[in-house]
Formats: sequence, C-alpha cells, structure tokens
Amino acid sequence: MDKENVELLEEAIRRFNATSTELEKSYRLLEGQVRHLKDELEIKNRALQESTMEQDKLREQAERNKRLAAVGEMSARIAHELRNPLGSIELFASLLKKGLEEPEKQSWAEHIQTAVSAMDYALTNMLFFTGKPSPHFQKTDLKRVIEEASLFAVHLLQQKEIKFVLSLESLTEPILCDEDLLRQIFVNLILNAIDALPKEGHLTIDAVAGTRQVQILVSDTGCGIPEDQLSKIFDPFFTTKNKGTGLGLAIVYNAIVAHSGTIEVKSKLCGGTVFTVTLPMNPERAVE
Ligand SMILES: Nc1ncnc2c1ncn2[C@@H]1O[C@H](COP(=O)(O)OP(=O)(O)OP(=O)(O)O)[C@@H](O)[C@H]1O
Ligand SMILES: [Mg+2]
Repeated sequence: MDKENVELLEEAIRRFNATSTELEKSYRLLEGQVRHLKDELEIKNRALQESTMEQDKLREQAERNKRLAAVGEMSARIAHELRNPLGSIELFASLLKKGLEEPEKQSWAEHIQTAVSAMDYALTNMLFFTGKPSPHFQKTDLKRVIEEASLFAVHLLQQKEIKFVLSLESLTEPILCDEDLLRQIFVNLILNAIDALPKEGHLTIDAVAGTRQVQILVSDTGCGIPEDQLSKIFDPFFTTKNKGTGLGLAIVYNAIVAHSGTIEVKSKLCGGTVFTVTLPMNPERAVE
C-alpha cells in the first residue's frame, strides 16, 4: 500500500474508533434513559395499582358505612320503641313494690326495677351513640344533674352495699351545658365504678369549682385498669365485660368533647380508679 492510502486507512480507522466511542457513549446514555423510564413506568404502574386498590377500598368502606348507618338508624328506632314499654314496666314494678307487704316479695319487685334500669341504660347509650350529640346548651344546676345520675344507680349501690359519698357543695353556680348529655356522662362513670367495685367498696364524687371551669372527680376503690388497656378504654366497643357493649366511655368522651371539656383517668391495678372530668362553665366561650 502506498503512503497516501495508509494515511487514508489510518484516518478512516481513527474516525471509526471515534464514532464507535461516541456511539458507545450514546448507547450507554440511551440505556440509562431507558432504565430510568422503565423505573418511572414501574413506579407509575404501582401508584396506579395502589390508587385503584385505594379506590376499591374507599368504595367498600362507603358501602360498609352506608350499611352501618342503616343498622344504626334501625337500632335507634328499636331503642326508642322499647323505652316506652320499659317505662310502664318500671312504673308497675314500683306500684307493685308499694302494694306488697312481705320484704322478700318487695325485693322481687326491686329486681324488676334493677333489670329495667339496666335495659334503659343500654338503650339510652345506644340512642346516644347512634345519634350525633348536637348539644342544646342551657344554664343548668350541675349538682342536680349528678344527683339524678346517682339516683339512677341507687338499686345497684344498695345491692352491693357500696359506701357512696357525694361532695358537691362547691357547685353553687349554674353551668351552660346539655343536661341529657351530662347526665349520661355521670351515669356511665358511676355504673363503671360500681362494676369495678367489690362488695362494700367506696365510690366518691367530688367537685372543685373555679371561676371558668369545674372539675368533677369520680373515684372508686375498685379493681383498676391495666396500663396496656388505658389507651383503649374510650374506643367504641372496647369492653372487658361479658355483657358490656363498650359504648359507655365512648359516649362519655364524645359528650365531653361536645362541651369543649376534657377527661383524664388515673388508675392503679387493684388500687382503684379516678376519672377527672373538666368542664368549662361556658362551653360556647371556651370554643372562641
Ligand atoms: N372505673 C373503672 N374501673 C375499672 N375499669 C374500668 C372503669 N371504667 C371503665 N373501665 C374499663 O373500661 C372498659 C370500657 O368501659 P365502657 O364503659 O366503655 O364499656 P363497658 O362498661 O365495658 O360496657 P357498657 O358501658 O356497655 O356497660 C370496661 O370494660 C372496663 O374494662
Ligand atoms: Mg360502661
């Protein structure tokens, strides 16, 4: 080969090498881009899948909520219907008790009254739980409301011979509240305390009144609440009782929130429990 051709060939090889290096570079770049696009596509596919699953889940949840709302409405209607005949049974049981002479027979009538109270309590809780608590605030004597709540449990207190002390002297000012909701708070706290107490246990309700808020302390010397359950007791349907619905404290919590109040619990296993309910004197001002 002559010199000129050799140079040409060398130049051609150089160019070929340069081009192939360029090509190699472009190929690597393209490969990187394809990999990147593939990854992106995979992420988007996954997101799409997740969002479809999320949508399915949401649809399922909406369906379940609709069914629950229907069941709730039906139970509320049944609860409402059952309360009237229960009222009559309670009335006739108290008339019967008055008409009976023998103490043993009188205690039978009392048993009917206790059972009616228990049913009424369960039905009222159900009505409060299924209906939204939309409070109607009125100036109310809180002392009277708590006394009425304890009257509700009077048969149970007597049956268990519980030492019951009410110290509500400091409640002299009326507070703005929904009377029905507040009564239900204290009925539930008192009944829970009675359940937790042994025979002849102690139940105390104390009040501390300030200028802007009141504190009610419901203390029992009962079995206490294990520490790992403390965070669950206000959850709806959490119960450790055979015949409990687990709605009591959920209702208490909602009613207190509806009053812009707070509830705290301190408990010692086998050493008793104290529920502290703090309520503003005027919940409407507390919200502002
Ligand atoms: N004073 C208390 N002492 C000990 N445990 C309590 C006390 N108050 C509540 N608990 C615990 O909290 C759980 C939830 O209470 P909640 O009132 O919500 O439901 P319940 O009492 O089990 O059922 P229901 O209110 O329908 O009778 C109870 O099952 C109990 O384990
Ligand atoms: Mg309860």
